[in-house]
Amino acid sequence: MAVTIRPASPADIPELVRLEQACFSLPHTEEQFLHELQDDVYALFVASDGDAILGYAGLTHILDEGYITNVAVFSHARRQGIADRLLAALDNFAAASALSFISLEVRQSNTPAVSLYAKNGYRKTGEIPNYYTDPKENALIMTKYYSA
Ligand SMILES: CC(C)(COP(=O)(O)OP(=O)(O)OC[C@H]1O[C@@H](n2cnc3c(N)ncnc32)[C@H](O)[C@@H]1OP(=O)(O)O)[C@@H](O)C(=O)NCCC(=O)NCCS
Repeated sequence: MAVTIRPASPADIPELVRLEQACFSLPHTEEQFLHELQDDVYALFVASDGDAILGYAGLTHILDEGYITNVAVFSHARRQGIADRLLAALDNFAAASALSFISLEVRQSNTPAVSLYAKNGYRKTGEIPNYYTDPKENALIMTKYYSA
């Protein structure tokens, strides 16, 4: 399967919503994605096999700071390196935009995601008690710093 990573477009929104609904208890809506695609402070990348969307990663940035909004891969496409490639796309975006760091929050029990971020150079920089609802859980803050 030849997978490419490219910027998201409005035509991707229905699949992105379906992916969010498959992965999260409080999924992004069509309106949120439309807003993010129209606002330059957001960057959204999708992984595609040419026909179907397999995953996506979103980032918001202000000045030299980047914050991951979400990373998700459809269950049938996991463990094939797609999330690694999506994070590499965020690294490229960070370099092109002169970001100093990218940070994110992740449920502390989300072992696949915590491992993914650790493998890709993100380190724990904080913890927020009861940050998540449905179910209630602490968030780990993980951050990757880019040297000048
Ligand atoms: C987390 C998620 C995005 C990983 O996507 P993926 O495409 O399967 O990840 P990759 O195949 O690129 O794996 C990259 C690394 O992530 C880690 N990883 C991925 N799945 C894992 C699992 N089930 N258990 C442990 N580590 C895992 C590993 O470190 C892996 O590297 P390795 O293959 O060399 O061991 C995917 O499981 C997912 O969509 N989960 C639901 C949504 C979610 O929780 N998103 C994160 C929100 S903060």
